Amino acid sequence: MSAFTDLLGIDAPLVLGPFGGLSSVALAAAVSEAGGLGSFGLYGYDGERIRRVGEELRAATARPFALNVWLPTGDEVEPGPEHDRYAQALAPLFAEVGADVPPRPERYVPPLAGQLDAVWEVAPAVLSTVFGVPSAALVAEAHRRGVRIVGTATTVAEAVALDAAGVDAIVATGAEAAGHRVSFLKPAEESLVGTFPLVPQVVDAVSVPVIAAGGIGDRRGVAAAFALGASAVQVGTAFLATRESAATAAHRAAIRSAAAEDSVLTRAMSGRLARGLRNRAVAEIEDAGAIAPFPAQNWLTGRFRTPAGAQGRGDLQSLWLGQAAALGRGETAAEVFAELSAGLP
Ligand SMILES: Cc1cc2nc3c(=O)[nH]c(=O)nc-3n(C[C@H](O)[C@H](O)[C@H](O)COP(=O)(O)O)c2cc1C
Repeated sequence: MSAFTDLLGIDAPLVLGPFGGLSSVALAAAVSEAGGLGSFGLYGYDGERIRRVGEELRAATARPFALNVWLPTGDEVEPGPEHDRYAQALAPLFAEVGADVPPRPERYVPPLAGQLDAVWEVAPAVLSTVFGVPSAALVAEAHRRGVRIVGTATTVAEAVALDAAGVDAIVATGAEAAGHRVSFLKPAEESLVGTFPLVPQVVDAVSVPVIAAGGIGDRRGVAAAFALGASAVQVGTAFLATRESAATAAHRAAIRSAAAEDSVLTRAMSGRLARGLRNRAVAEIEDAGAIAPFPAQNWLTGRFRTPAGAQGRGDLQSLWLGQAAALGRGETAAEVFAELSAGLP
């Protein structure tokens, strides 16, 4: 046991990263049941879906789990008159999957306040956040309810800001990680610190346990993270390829076959910088040069990504994966968990 496992009431300091839009109850529950901390990403979920997921998680495991929300940064666009222009730029991709060019929706993402009301009802052991510093009111409310709050940093300065806000632990996520670069103090392009330099410098700068994330795929990565001073490890890509994951077959196959240098950082799919495979959708959108701001682009690409997933087409999905994709071992969450556990001190 360690300060981190004691804090959360878990057996092993191994965290399943949340996957906004791609989390599954089966995977989160499997990691919690194995003795780690399963996380479920709530990006795009309204209160009703969050309550349903909470019930499903409770039915699947009695162990602690984390829910994850994206904090508003203030530069999110609302649906406006530019919507049709943004949508039209992607018309060929909608046509390819047999979808209409989508009309302007009422909103692109559900508001945070409604998400949080539902999170409090679910009462997870942990609420983790990305894209900012949780407000004093949010930290106080979490603590009043006995919910631990975890922030996410891509730089030392972000970690210091999170520490000052009173979070209980900090995920230090290196640029090797899959998915969005969750920077909030400087542009993501100026916050590309790797896990190796980031973790020890964050450990030195903050007073709370640090969870290392990004590019950790097997026991060697886990051992290295602890040698750097981390109190826990968060893994995404290696778990995303398992049987319990919600990733499509094409996405899993992409993870299993990706070399270390195959992923790129791109704004093409969501309007924010994220790491994934440069498939045809990314290449065509980047080449066309018309990328709507977040979250408009994310909402719009979702209108062809979902049918593409159902049609088994990897070329038109977001194939988020990190630089350690090839290190992932195991068909099941338990197998990946056992491999990672072997690197614990
Ligand atoms: C498909 C996908 C979606 C993700 N969505 C989120 C998210 O909503 N919130 C978050 O904190 N992290 C998110 N992440 C990051 C992971 O939780 C994790 O920190 C990251 O994958 C770790 O790096 P690794 O992939 O190299 O293991 C996402 C990652 C992937 C692959």
